[in-house]
Amino acid sequence: MSDLFDAVRRQRACRRFSAEPVADELVEQVLEAATFAPSAENRQPWVFVVVRDAETRAAIGDLTRRAWRGGARQHSEGRLEPRLLADVDAGAEGGVSGAPVLVVVGGDAAIAVEAALPSSIFPAVQNLLLAATALGLGSALTTLTTGLAHELAELVALPDHVRPMAVIPLGHPARPLGPPRREPVTSKTHRERYGGRW
Ligand SMILES: Cc1cc2nc3c(=O)[nH]c(=O)nc-3n(C[C@H](O)[C@H](O)[C@H](O)COP(=O)(O)O)c2cc1C
Repeated sequence: MSDLFDAVRRQRACRRFSAEPVADELVEQVLEAATFAPSAENRQPWVFVVVRDAETRAAIGDLTRRAWRGGARQHSEGRLEPRLLADVDAGAEGGVSGAPVLVVVGGDAAIAVEAALPSSIFPAVQNLLLAATALGLGSALTTLTTGLAHELAELVALPDHVRPMAVIPLGHPARPLGPPRREPVTSKTHRERYGGRW
């Protein structure tokens, strides 16, 4: 297993997967890491639905495609650089739902204040992504389908008080991902006051 900083530096969105299966033990290890995240008032409002069923995955894939073709693609064109646009396109057109496991992440509004749901759920999602990376799995944080939240919720039988917040594919990358491209920390950091050189 790689160390934390190695996983942090390698973690990036994977949108194409091989057919190699992922054992439940590995999925559980990843989800357990997610549950160690902080949350407002320690409410731990995360809900994970692990989807392996081919029909449900295909239905989530259809939903993703609809969200993408129904406006998200147009919005992204001209905003994303061509390489990223092509990758997101491949993911939305079936790459993401082609993963052997899809984790639908929900936030339970019955046990946490609605306003704090995203800030309580996404730290867990980040833990999940890092754990997947450390274990050699591909993963991606996707929110496209949350634009069709009601339908996504219905596909995995979420009760009304659980809001769908992300769909995360888990599987083995179809090809190596390469390193993420990020701005240097010095361009994002200020000493004492905004504008203070780091
Ligand atoms: C809030 C959020 C929503 C995202 N939604 C999607 C999505 O719906 N589909 C997708 O392919 N990628 C999605 N991404 C992944 C980003 O495109 C990705 O993190 C970013 O481009 C960095 O690319 P890298 O992971 O390859 O370094 C999302 C990321 C975040 C943080």
